[in-house]
Amino acid sequence: MEEKIKKIREELDTDIKDVHTLNTLNDIRVKYLGKKGLITDLTSNMSELTIEERKEVGKLSNEIRTYATNVITSLEEKLKLEELNKKLESESIDISLPATEIPVGAPSILEKVIEDFENVFMSMGYDVVDGPEIEEDRFNFELLGLPKGHPARDAQDTFYVKDDELLLRSHTSPVQARTMLSKGGNEPVRVICPGKAYRRDDDDATHSHQFTQIEGLIVDKNIKLSDLKGTVTVICKHMFGKDTETRFRPSYYQFTEPSVEMDISCFNCKGKGCSICKNTGWITIGGAGVVHYNVLKGCGYDPAIWSGFAFGFGAERCAMLKYGISDIRTFYNVDLRESKVFDRKEDE
Ligand code: PHE
Repeated sequence: MEEKIKKIREELDTDIKDVHTLNTLNDIRVKYLGKKGLITDLTSNMSELTIEERKEVGKLSNEIRTYATNVITSLEEKLKLEELNKKLESESIDISLPATEIPVGAPSILEKVIEDFENVFMSMGYDVVDGPEIEEDRFNFELLGLPKGHPARDAQDTFYVKDDELLLRSHTSPVQARTMLSKGGNEPVRVICPGKAYRRDDDDATHSHQFTQIEGLIVDKNIKLSDLKGTVTVICKHMFGKDTETRFRPSYYQFTEPSVEMDISCFNCKGKGCSICKNTGWITIGGAGVVHYNVLKGCGYDPAIWSGFAFGFGAERCAMLKYGISDIRTFYNVDLRESKVFDRKEDE
C-alpha cells in the first residue's frame, strides 16, 4: 500500500509540473481526487479489509488526499492570480499618453470690435440698424449729393448688379438716407449701422474689395460739429484707451458740410512717432461731418429746424490697429493658422 501511495505521489508531482492552465489543473484534480480518481480508488475495497488494515489504509489515503488537495489548491491560486494579472495588463489604459487636443473657438476679431462699438454707442442711446448690401443708386449716391456723372463717384466705383441702378453699396452711408426717410422728417434720429461695403479695388495688405464700416447718424435740434468731436472722443477713448486724443482734419464729402477726417493719437507711441502711425503720431480711423443741408432736405428733414452729424469708421482698420494685424486679407481668408496668432488682448 505504502508503495502504491508513493507512486501516486511521484506521479502527481510530475503531472503538476506540466500544468500551466486552470483547465489542465482541473483534469489533474479529476485524475487524483475525482470519484474514480487514483486516490479515491485507494479506499474502494475497504469492505474487504480487516479493521487494522482499514485504519492503516484510511490514515495513509487521508494523508495523500490532504497532500494532493494542498498541492492542487495552491497551484490553482497561483494560476488564478497569473490570469488576473494578464487580464489587467491587457486592459490597462496608458494615462501617460498626451490627450487629443480639442480646438476651442474664439470670437472673430472683427465681430468683437463691431460689438464693442455697438455696446458703447448703445450706452449713449443709439439704436443699431441694418441696411441692404445690394443698394439702389438713389440711396448710395443721389440722395447723398452724388448725382449721376459726378466725378466723386469714381473714388467709390463698385459692383453693379443690374444696369446702373442696383449696386453693392460702396459705403454704409445710404443707411443715413434710408433711416431719415423712414422717420418721416419729424423725429430725432440716433443710429449706428455696422455693415459690409464693397468697392472695385485691387486687394492688397490695406485694401479689400469687401470691407466693413460703422456708420453713425444723429439728427436733432441744435447739433453742432463740437457734438461730433465730443462723441467721437468718448468712443475712441473707450475703444483705444483712455489717454487717446482725437483730431479732426478738414476734408470733403458730398453729404456733409463741413467734412472732416478723424484721427486718433497713436496708442502705440503716444504721439512720439512709430511704424504704426508712420511717424506722424496720428492715425486716421474714418470720415465724418455735419449732415449736408441738401441731404436733410432730400430725406424729408427741414434744415431750418433740424441738424445732425454723421460719421463712418473703418471697422477692419480699427481692428487691425487694436490687435496688431498687418494684412486686411486675414479677415477674409479661412486659414486658421493666421487668425490663431492674433493678440486678442482678451483680459484687458
Ligand atoms: N461714407 C464715407 C466713406 O465711405 C465716410 C463718411 C461717413 C463720411 C459719414 C462722412 C459721414 O468714405
